[in-house]
Amino acid sequence: MAKRKKAVIIDGRKVASVVKESIKKEVAEMIDSKDASPHLAAVLVGDDPASETYVASKEKAAHTAGMISSTYRYPADITEKELLEVVDYLNNDEEIDGYIVQLPLPGHIDENKIIHRINPAKDVDGFTPENVGKMVLGQPAFLSATPFGIMELLKYYKISVAGKHCVVLGRSNIVGRPMSILLSQKNDAANATVTLCHSATKNLEEITRSADILIAAIGKQQFVKADMVKEGAVVIDVGIHRLKDETKKSGYRLVGDVDFDEVMKKASFITPVPGGVGPMTIAMLLKNTLLAHKKEIYS
Ligand code: GUN
Repeated sequence: MAKRKKAVIIDGRKVASVVKESIKKEVAEMIDSKDASPHLAAVLVGDDPASETYVASKEKAAHTAGMISSTYRYPADITEKELLEVVDYLNNDEEIDGYIVQLPLPGHIDENKIIHRINPAKDVDGFTPENVGKMVLGQPAFLSATPFGIMELLKYYKISVAGKHCVVLGRSNIVGRPMSILLSQKNDAANATVTLCHSATKNLEEITRSADILIAAIGKQQFVKADMVKEGAVVIDVGIHRLKDETKKSGYRLVGDVDFDEVMKKASFITPVPGGVGPMTIAMLLKNTLLAHKKEIYS
């Protein structure tokens, strides 16, 4: 029997750095020609450590790319009305090109109400109904950064999507649902046949085994096992979880929604955790900020 080829491990850090370098170059040219730097703002409510880490990484990446970055911090007991006033302020501040409201928000605040108030032209997360609607219609829109980053990874590795069966696990507004829409769009980078699986899906393993491209965004650690994956499939792991590991100085290691060690023996391409999808999310947020500054989506 012919020996099967080893899986290619998709290097999200490398692709993200290619995207970020190109943004940095464009920002430097803007500054040289006396244009202002793009300005990304973030709103951080409460002291959730994961949100703190994400916002700090976004700030650092923005600075490295030559952008202006500012973080608006509020205590967890800010009222919904006060937070809506913050959003109104950011909508009207002409110095700010784009901003994000880091999720999750405390339980007493209606996330939808906050998101719906964001000016779509500054919605670099692509979460507002206007941007989601435009994405569904295939019109220019700010795309949610994680699915946008996954499309970029597939493109970079020349993984053809057209006509393939793509199975997406998870229907979140941030990842699963927009991912399923982008993959099925009528354009050269997409044209896939898509199945979106969720908690009520029957015969899940049968469906995942028929996937040419499997995208795991289900939020359950190491959920995808080798027997759920077709030989030669492309496997993209969106999950990120801390797994206790006494051999590590930190006391934990990061794992995804896919059992990497098992699944890599069957996959043709696979993203690792960390270093796969994660770095792309930040790179695409910067890309959206640049597009917002250049008024390429909303003039
Ligand atoms: N929380 C987890 N991921 C995200 C994201 O991409 N954007 C925002 N605003 N909050 C998040």
